[in-house]
Amino acid sequence: MKVPVRKQIEGLTPYKPGKPIEDVQREYGLEQVDKLASNENPLNCSPVVIKAVKEAAANLSIYPDGNATELKEAIAEFYGVKVSEIMPTSGSNEMVWLLAKTFLNPGDEAIMADYTFVSYKIATITMGAVPVIVPVKDFSLDLDAMADAITEKTRIIWLCNPNNPTGTLFSEEELHSFMKKVPEDVLVAYDEAYIEYVTDPSFSKDGYKLYQRYPNMVVMRTFSKIYGLAALRVGYTLANEEVLDNINKIRRPFNVNRLAQVAAIAALKDQDFVKRSYEVNMEGKEYLYRAFDEMGLTYAKSETNHIFVDVEKDCNEIFVELQKRGTIIRPFPRTYIRVTIGTMEQNKKFVALLKEVLDK
Ligand SMILES: Cc1ncc(COP(=O)(O)O)c(C=O)c1O
Repeated sequence: MKVPVRKQIEGLTPYKPGKPIEDVQREYGLEQVDKLASNENPLNCSPVVIKAVKEAAANLSIYPDGNATELKEAIAEFYGVKVSEIMPTSGSNEMVWLLAKTFLNPGDEAIMADYTFVSYKIATITMGAVPVIVPVKDFSLDLDAMADAITEKTRIIWLCNPNNPTGTLFSEEELHSFMKKVPEDVLVAYDEAYIEYVTDPSFSKDGYKLYQRYPNMVVMRTFSKIYGLAALRVGYTLANEEVLDNINKIRRPFNVNRLAQVAAIAALKDQDFVKRSYEVNMEGKEYLYRAFDEMGLTYAKSETNHIFVDVEKDCNEIFVELQKRGTIIRPFPRTYIRVTIGTMEQNKKFVALLKEVLDK
């Protein structure tokens, strides 16, 4: 092909999602494959959602509400905030890209951790901006070092709390003292994709209100994780009207499809499902901690639905060996893997396979 691609795109490697179950089944001739690679909800989603989506699917010829008014109203009611302070998107991933497109000029800097959600870096580079990478400290975001990295060129700071892939959480106090060091003309993109899984009782989970205190802060959340709607692609952002008005200028029309809107509204109504998912996750987490302890493996204490663990062997090798045996996990550089907490049955199978491949 003779058409040159933009120079920012040349060096990028595509986002690599967790391997689909069907691919692994075909490749290794396996009947039962568990995917513990993409931090999905092992309980599927609420039956209330399935019913609502089936009903809505009876007519697919009409475009969705481009403003997602009913979904905004449902979120506004749920949180007690204004409708104008909410923007639903096609997964929170879409918002990562919208923020980069709205706020990053070529040559600007965007600060992020080395181990964090990968879209921040891809979106930053795509805009011709410079990712400023700050190493995590003891698996956690190093907020002091991130604040020290701020320069006149900084436009966005990407904060994931709790963090993917390490699962760690920083406290609200730490966040407030961090925000004191952030100039008003730097946007803090605060990603709470896993907030509903947090078990630390001292953490209030009221972080969605932070944009009311800090006008340069946007708070991203998603229906993909504890609500189990990853297939439908729906997330939402809470932010000040002025920020959202600017983002709205480049938002694709009809960015959240109708089934996704209907599903998200129904999902919010079934908080019992959320509670059940939380409990299954907590039980699975304790089980996996015990198993890792028995195997003598080091891991980061997680406040999410996944655990970052050092398997002390080449992670890609372990990934392939587990996959051959029917469990897909996510390899990270060197000796780390990230495993999504599954049902107890999935967790037990994973532990048995891990023991086998590690010879423990
Ligand atoms: C930290 C974080 N943010 C955002 C996302 C994107 O989620 P979605 O686009 O499905 O809402 C993910 C997905 O894994 C994530 O881990």
